[in-house]
Amino acid sequence: MRDSNSPGSQSVPASSASPADAMIQLSGVRKTFAQPVLKNINLSIPTGCLYGLMGPGASGKSVLLKSAALLVKPDAGSVSVAGQDLTVLDQTGLQAFRMSFGMLFQNNALFDFMTVAENIAFPLKRLFELEYDQVKEMVAERLERVGLSGFEARFPANLSGGQKKRIGLARATITGAPVQLYDEPAAGLDPVTSQKIFDLLRREQQEAGSTVLMVSTDLDRLLSVVDRVGMMYEGELIFDGTVDEARSSRDTYVSQFVHGRPDGPL
Ligand SMILES: Nc1ncnc2c1ncn2[C@@H]1O[C@H](COP(=O)(O)OP(=O)(O)OP(=O)(O)O)[C@@H](O)[C@H]1O
Ligand SMILES: [Mg+2]
Repeated sequence: MRDSNSPGSQSVPASSASPADAMIQLSGVRKTFAQPVLKNINLSIPTGCLYGLMGPGASGKSVLLKSAALLVKPDAGSVSVAGQDLTVLDQTGLQAFRMSFGMLFQNNALFDFMTVAENIAFPLKRLFELEYDQVKEMVAERLERVGLSGFEARFPANLSGGQKKRIGLARATITGAPVQLYDEPAAGLDPVTSQKIFDLLRREQQEAGSTVLMVSTDLDRLLSVVDRVGMMYEGELIFDGTVDEARSSRDTYVSQFVHGRPDGPL
């Protein structure tokens, strides 16, 4: 349990996004599995923001990310994307809405029975009527961007963990979706490839003006690319602010985490 006397623990600094500007808006979101995992989460992510979510293991980061696409259904509260309250949509409406998201989950979730090219093109085929050559070209361009040119015909079972991650990213970015959710986009990659992936995500996010919610435990790289950052701790969003505010935070939990100090309340 977090020490409530910790500076800054009484209140989370207000997000700069008013609900009207927010592309992704979580209000009073709660989720309990065996224990409470999300405790009254209020988060506004402005349109065109690259938002980083950090925090210790099992603090609720992935569940929060999934709840933003309603892949985890909150017990209470509302989730809105582009002004649409997702909690009121039926299954068909929700699935249609999710097609406008680019998503990468922690386990990649590639289809084992599809080739790399088929995996990457999957979101495209369901969205648009495109010519075969056009799809082929787009897949090749995505593969080049993630440094895996020529991998079209491989199957996921014959890829390394890092390669699967990069294929997942190629798939998540192929539609240029206005909202993207990334869980650990660079986990398991070497430092150079990780940096390239973060740079790629940042560049594409800026070019497209998309709104990105990204979870990463690669803190230095995360903080070097995001516009705003949040920190989860035991199911609570204990920090929401700019990178500078996170670095200079006097909250003992945030400060210890951001500076990676071994001693402290964590
Ligand atoms: N479907 C589920 N059923 C039951 N418990 C779950 C489920 N999904 C997550 N949890 C639990 O919720 C808590 C938060 O999980 P979550 O995956 O969000 O952690 P995390 O912050 O992403 O951690 P990590 O950094 O290790 O990925 C954990 O205790 C986890 O065991
Ligand atoms: Mg996780």
